[in-house]
Amino acid sequence: MKRVLSGIQPSGKLHIGNYFGMMKTMIEYMEQSDLYVFIVDLHALTSVHDRNRLRTGTLEAASDFLALGLDPDRCTFWVQSDLPEVCELTWILSTVTPMGLLERCHSYKDKTAKGIAPSHGLFAYPVLMAADILLFQADLVPVGKDQKQHLEVARDIAIKFNNTFGETFVVPEPAIDENTAIIPGIDGQKMSKSYGNTIPIFLDDKSLRKVVMSIKTDSTPVEEPKNPDTCNLYALLKLFMEPHRLAEVRNLYINGGAAYGHLKQELFELIRDYFAPARDRKKELLANPDYLRDILAGGAEKARGKAIVTLDQVRDRVGLKY
Ligand code: ADP
Ligand code: TRP
Repeated sequence: MKRVLSGIQPSGKLHIGNYFGMMKTMIEYMEQSDLYVFIVDLHALTSVHDRNRLRTGTLEAASDFLALGLDPDRCTFWVQSDLPEVCELTWILSTVTPMGLLERCHSYKDKTAKGIAPSHGLFAYPVLMAADILLFQADLVPVGKDQKQHLEVARDIAIKFNNTFGETFVVPEPAIDENTAIIPGIDGQKMSKSYGNTIPIFLDDKSLRKVVMSIKTDSTPVEEPKNPDTCNLYALLKLFMEPHRLAEVRNLYINGGAAYGHLKQELFELIRDYFAPARDRKKELLANPDYLRDILAGGAEKARGKAIVTLDQVRDRVGLKY
């Protein structure tokens, strides 16, 4: 059975892009793999320097996953910082990571361009991510397209380490679903916490309706034909609509008659209904944070069982066991 692993940052409210780009895929993998899912709070620390925001973000992200259907008994689910082993492995890996490999990473440049402080942690972010993956000898890492380069860095580091010290790490494969590779935000750019253009998964009805109604559309009149394939409202409808209704809507776009206002109302109702049961579960979970902490502590213990085996072997390979 393949070992599948992925993490998500608790740096803001999780959104529909996170859900279709990563969370839904991970939950589905539960059926057919040895699954590892974790909340990467150490990564979030590269951009969040607000104690309460990070703490709340971590508990919220954990409750989001559980509410959406992740079953902690059928996978390993934990918070990254509960396993200090990952920091030790990060250091060891950083000694075989060429500077040039990190200097080529787009995400460091993108994030500093957006105003995140250019710290050493932000620069070394991909090494910590490689440690996350290699510590658990993951075969497959499902992520959105934006993480592809980080996966390549993790593979390069694994190969470099194996060549230097002998076969130690599984070289991980990315799993990127091309159909839902990039979900657009309400402004048509990639949906992202850092662009302020998200549709959060768990909003109350009033706020959700307001966000959906603010999706940017062009000013083509209702009766004129429109191109569904360049319309971000259509791209979002595609995620939620039944195929027969979607075919009708596509027809309206192409032949005239697609009214953006009505379609937005329809999208609002679809999103509300899709997430309604999970929203109730999330409320219950957040009302009992100690229960949530117990689940996460159990997950950390399970994860540590695997991590210490790899780390022990790594320490031995590099000469840290004397
Ligand atoms: P954000 O850009 O909102 O900060 P993250 O970088 O924390 O999101 O991404 C968490 C996961 O969700 C990653 O696997 C990422 O590829 C995926 N993801 C984020 N935004 C999108 C999107 N708009 N479309 C598809 N997947 C996304
Ligand atoms: N960098 C990833 C993101 O921003 C999160 C992440 C950290 C991750 N460690 C990982 C994803 C390990 C997959 C595997 O989305």
